[in-house]
Amino acid sequence: MKKINTRRKFIKKGLIVGLGLPILGNSLVSCVLNSEQNKSEEESTQNKLRILILGGTSFLGPHLIAYAISRGHSITTFTRGKTKPTIYADLYNKVEQLIGDRKNDLTALENGKWDIVIDNSGYNSEWTKKSASLLKDKASVYLYTSSVSVYYPFLKYDIDEDAKLQLEEPKGIEDEDLKMEYWYSVMKANSEIEAIKAFGQNRSIIIRPTYMIGPADKSDRFIYWPVRLSRGGEIMVPGKNDAVQYIDVRDVAEWMVRLSEEKLIGTYNAVGPQSSQTMNDFIDHAKDAFDVESTFVNIDDYEFLKENRVPYLVPWIMPVGNEYGGARINNQKAIENGLTFRNLKDTVKDTYQWWISDSLTDERRNKFELKPDSILLREKSIIENWKKLKK
Ligand SMILES: NC(=O)c1ccc[n+]([C@@H]2O[C@H](COP(=O)([O-])OP(=O)(O)OC[C@H]3O[C@@H](n4cnc5c(N)ncnc54)[C@H](OP(=O)(O)O)[C@@H]3O)[C@@H](O)[C@H]2O)c1
Repeated sequence: MKKINTRRKFIKKGLIVGLGLPILGNSLVSCVLNSEQNKSEEESTQNKLRILILGGTSFLGPHLIAYAISRGHSITTFTRGKTKPTIYADLYNKVEQLIGDRKNDLTALENGKWDIVIDNSGYNSEWTKKSASLLKDKASVYLYTSSVSVYYPFLKYDIDEDAKLQLEEPKGIEDEDLKMEYWYSVMKANSEIEAIKAFGQNRSIIIRPTYMIGPADKSDRFIYWPVRLSRGGEIMVPGKNDAVQYIDVRDVAEWMVRLSEEKLIGTYNAVGPQSSQTMNDFIDHAKDAFDVESTFVNIDDYEFLKENRVPYLVPWIMPVGNEYGGARINNQKAIENGLTFRNLKDTVKDTYQWWISDSLTDERRNKFELKPDSILLREKSIIENWKKLKK
């Protein structure tokens, strides 16, 4: 049986194969951007920031750049030059693009000066140590993009930012997927520490997002829902109406920029929705993105779901074992410090528009929709089996 290894497995895979995103359709981009550009004239802050993004060309990065530019800030990115910006591509002619490698070549960072560093490519605590040490006298604040995974295993409800973190991987774990979960959790926790060691507590911002969803997501963890809800008909809903958490990538990006503007130093869980939500609530809101007839089949037997290889369907994660409290992370501190949440209907609609846009090739879409074990292909027979069992 497949493990619930949703967060970490993707990261390692993503680093290897997921860096070449297709171009996002101009229609969606220009629509979002125009509204941001209009806002920019009104909202342009007096304090224009020089922002250095370590990363910046994949999922969170482009949204960050679009919003920051709309508010009058200037952007430098630092990447290997492999992952091309696939949304807001036109905007990158306004971005200073430095090339290097966090593994072994930070030369391009040696001569700059910035107000804020946003570290979006922290996939190794040594990388954070090296970049934060180099940049500590070249920038005022270091914002490290961490993850709620630092709390893994999620053994209780309502975990907040003061929870004690695990800084070493447990010994003796054989299971590769589980090892990866712990590796990611411990790597992110140690990276936070390295950032704070170099910049000091009063110059560090740590953001811990839960599953980010939205346009340009390369993980294919969430796209099932926009695709499936758009088609209507009989739709499988896994779980016992369990709690779910997720956040629109744009809500994270925009909040990061506002935190940087206001220098709201601290550690925050970037978790939505605003108040607790169950899977059925999620469906109720998400379905409104499409004007089609749907019926929903709740499959509330965890063993049946495991046997049918549905241990998760983000945002639903089977809340058992190490995942017990993973969808009940506390978000109060973030809300008190300005995190806002857009409508789920818009997230689903925008993500779908991106998915069907010309900017994605059929090959890219088929990689998810038609792969042999695609949940989209298996769903009908799972529902049939479930109905037989319940007769
Ligand atoms: N996706 C989620 O649901 C989620 C949830 C919680 C936390 N996070 C965290 O969110 C952060 C943002 O991820 P993102 O992909 O959306 O960020 P992004 O800023 O859009 O892109 C990541 C960047 O890392 C660069 N990069 C990779 N390896 C590098 C290296 N060796 N040296 C220099 N640059 C390198 C890539 O460019 P090149 O390939 O050109 O180098 C790319 O620009 C990550 O730290 C992730 O752990 C994500």
